[in-house]
Amino acid sequence: MNDVAKLVLPDGQTAELPIIEGSEKEKALDISKLRAQTGYVTLDPGFVNTGSCQSAITFLDGEKGILRYRGISIEELAEKSSFLEVAYLLINGNLPNQTEMNGFSDSISTHALINEDMKRFYENFSSRAHPMAILSAMVSSLSAYYTEATGGANIDDLQLNAARLMAKVSTIASFSYKKSIGQPFVYPQDKLSYCENFLNMMFAVPTTEYEADPVVVDALNLLLILHADHEQNCSTSTVRVVGSSQANVYASVASGILALWGPLHGGANQQVLLMLQQIHEAGGDVDKFVAMAKDKDSEFRLMGFGHRVYKNFDPRATIIKKACDRVLEKMGVDDPLLDIAKKLEARALEDEYFVKRKLYPNVDFYSGIIYRAIGIPTNMFTVMFSLGRLPGWIAQWKEMMEDPQNRIARPRQIYTGSQLVQYTPMSERG
Ligand code: CMC
Repeated sequence: MNDVAKLVLPDGQTAELPIIEGSEKEKALDISKLRAQTGYVTLDPGFVNTGSCQSAITFLDGEKGILRYRGISIEELAEKSSFLEVAYLLINGNLPNQTEMNGFSDSISTHALINEDMKRFYENFSSRAHPMAILSAMVSSLSAYYTEATGGANIDDLQLNAARLMAKVSTIASFSYKKSIGQPFVYPQDKLSYCENFLNMMFAVPTTEYEADPVVVDALNLLLILHADHEQNCSTSTVRVVGSSQANVYASVASGILALWGPLHGGANQQVLLMLQQIHEAGGDVDKFVAMAKDKDSEFRLMGFGHRVYKNFDPRATIIKKACDRVLEKMGVDDPLLDIAKKLEARALEDEYFVKRKLYPNVDFYSGIIYRAIGIPTNMFTVMFSLGRLPGWIAQWKEMMEDPQNRIARPRQIYTGSQLVQYTPMSERG
C-alpha cells in the first residue's frame, strides 16, 4: 500500500494522491486520477515539475551532479567503456558478456549500408541545408524502406530496428558531410570499430590511405558515451510522445532529432563555438559578452551555460573540460577558443547573476572544442550529439513500448480564449 498525500481544494473537495517513490528515494505525487475525482488538472508549463514516466534507464541528481546509466556512474563508463558497450547497456539493461557484445557489434556492422536509392536523396537537398535537416529527413525515410517496422513491443523487431538505426545513422551522417564538401561517399567497413568506421566514412578519400588516429577515436568514443542518454530531456520526451501514438521507431527517432536541433537543446553545441569565435574575433573581451548575457533587454544568452536539471555542476562538462586539455595536448593543437572558453567560464562563475541562478557550463560548453580539434566541422556538431543520443532514444522508446502503463501522451490545457462567440458574416465585419 502506497503512502498518500491529501489535497484539500477551495471548494471543499479532497483528493488522496498516492506517493510514488523511486529507487533513489525521489518522491512523486500520482495525479493521474485527479481530474476524474475532482475536475482539476495540474498546470506545469515546460514540465518543470512533472514526471512523465517511470524509467529504469538513467538516474540524474541535478543538485549533486550525479549521472548514471543503468546504475553505473558516468565517470566510470567514460573511463572504462566503449560507446557500443554503453549502447548495449542502455538498450538491454545490462553490460554484455563477450558473446553478446560480439553479436551486437556484428549486427551493427551488418546493417551499416543504406539502400543505394537513398544516396540519390542527397542530390535533392539544397546546398544550404543544415545537416540536421538532412539527418532527420533521411532517418524518417528509413521507415519507407523498413515498412514492417511498427510501434509495439515485438522485441525481435526492435533489436533488428535498433541495430539498423545504430548502424545507418552513422552512415547517413557521414554521407551528409561528404555531400556538403563535394567528396564521394565512403562506404562503411565491417572490420573497423564503430568510431573508427565513422571517422573513416567522414575523412577517408579514394586517393589516399586513411587510418584514424587512436587519440581521435578515443575522444569520439568519450563524447558519444557522455551524450548517450539523459533521461526525459526535450528530444527524448519527443521520442516518447511520438512513440506513444504507436508510431514506428524511425519516425519517433526522426522527431527526436528535430527536437534536439533547437539551440536551447543539442543545437547549443554549434552556438557555443560560434559564440567563442565571435568573442575571439571581437578581441577576446569576455566581460562584454557576460554583460550582454545578463542584460534582460538583450536576447543574447551564454550558450553552453545553464541547465534545467543541473544546479551545481554538469558532470559531463567536468569530464569534457579535462578531456579538452588532454586531447588538444596529445594532438599538438593550441586552440585560442579553449582559452576563451576557460576565461568565460571563470568570469561567469564569479558573477552574482550566474551564481544566484545556479548557471554552470553544461555538456555543450566544451564539447565543440574537442570536435573542432578532431576535424568535425561546426555545422556537424549537433549531428554528433544525435549520434551519441541515439541509443538513449532507442532504449527509452523500447522501455515505453514494453511498459503496460503506456498510454498515448495527451496533455490537458487551461483554455484562456473567448467564450462562445457568434459567427459574423463577412459583410458585417469591420
Ligand atoms: N545565459 C544567461 N542567462 C541565463 C542562461 C544563459 N545561458 N540560462 C538561463 N539564464 C537565466 C534566465 O534568463 C533566467 O533568468 P531570470 O530568472 O532572471 O528570468 C534564469 O537563468 C532561469 O533560466 P530559464 O531559461 O528559466 O531556465 P530553463 O531551465 O527553462 O532553461 C536552458 C534551461 C538550458 C534552456 C537555459 O539555461 C539556456 O537557455 N541555456 C543556454 C542554451 C544551452 O546551453 N542549452 C544546452 C542545455 S544542456 C544540453 C542539452 O540539453 O541539450
